[in-house]
Amino acid sequence: MTILGIDEITYGAPDLATCRRFFADWGLSLVQDTDGRLVFESVNGCRVIVADPARSELPPAIEDGATLREVVWGVEDAASLAALRAQLAGKPGFIDTGSRVGCTDPNGLHVAFQVSVKRAADVHGVPSNTWDKRQRIDEAGKIYDRAIPVEVGHVVFFVNDLAATEAFYTALGFVASDRYPGRGAFLRCAPRGGHHDLFLLRTPDGKRGLNHVAFAVRDIHEVFGGGLHFSRCGWETQLGPGRHPISSAYFWYFRNPAGGLIEYYADEDELTEAWTPRDFEPGPTVFAEWAVDGGIDGNTRRQKGRTADGKFLTEKRD
Ligand SMILES: [Fe+2]
Repeated sequence: MTILGIDEITYGAPDLATCRRFFADWGLSLVQDTDGRLVFESVNGCRVIVADPARSELPPAIEDGATLREVVWGVEDAASLAALRAQLAGKPGFIDTGSRVGCTDPNGLHVAFQVSVKRAADVHGVPSNTWDKRQRIDEAGKIYDRAIPVEVGHVVFFVNDLAATEAFYTALGFVASDRYPGRGAFLRCAPRGGHHDLFLLRTPDGKRGLNHVAFAVRDIHEVFGGGLHFSRCGWETQLGPGRHPISSAYFWYFRNPAGGLIEYYADEDELTEAWTPRDFEPGPTVFAEWAVDGGIDGNTRRQKGRTADGKFLTEKRD
């Protein structure tokens, strides 16, 4: 069976008015707005749903407050779905609607699978010119006024039983890309693909929860242009922009009224069967090669929180 990636996520969050504005500013298209339920789409048709927690169809929350309630993974074809149906039958929370099968993972999160409904996205990043490879010729680079995310690329959860949760996903075909031994596992949903689709992180207190949802954009310039726009809309940076040494991706994290954090990212490592998982010790320099604390002011282009004394950043201060 082949799992292709994330097809749909559902948040349970009470402040739908704020979430409506938040995800529109983020760059998603609102395609349904009915009776306490917002449905957004990314460029390739990946769906982001925000529902009032009072709605009865929502799976239980793994933590208090606004958070993610369900992740739906897209699979390649009906045969893949049938194989998953056979594998998940009998697991806690098992559901089978015909087009969708699912269960509760060992962390208490509801996960489901469907034949992917995502579309091919006809979007193109800006090629880079490195010393040895000139890929952008007679073509100016690009400045993005805002981001229009291609899809939900990965989700990250705090888990209380890392080994059991990792084993649940690897039994379904997920593959470990890298690990913090005993503390975290970066998993991709198939041997070939981006560095991680799912990252499981065990906190010292073992509390379960959502850490963040990450949206893939075209290239690193869209991370920066998108983050600047989102800042100008008034949303609060948690950390970024910056760059992860593990996965090599550029990132920018913001606080999310629907739960956890939200991330723009681009230029992650692409892996195959030939990749050997690495072990890392958690720490700030492993998390970020560099990162701007508090974000960049989208109007002045200077780091937020810096004293506005009229001097350039490189000028000597008294
Ligand atoms: Fe991330």
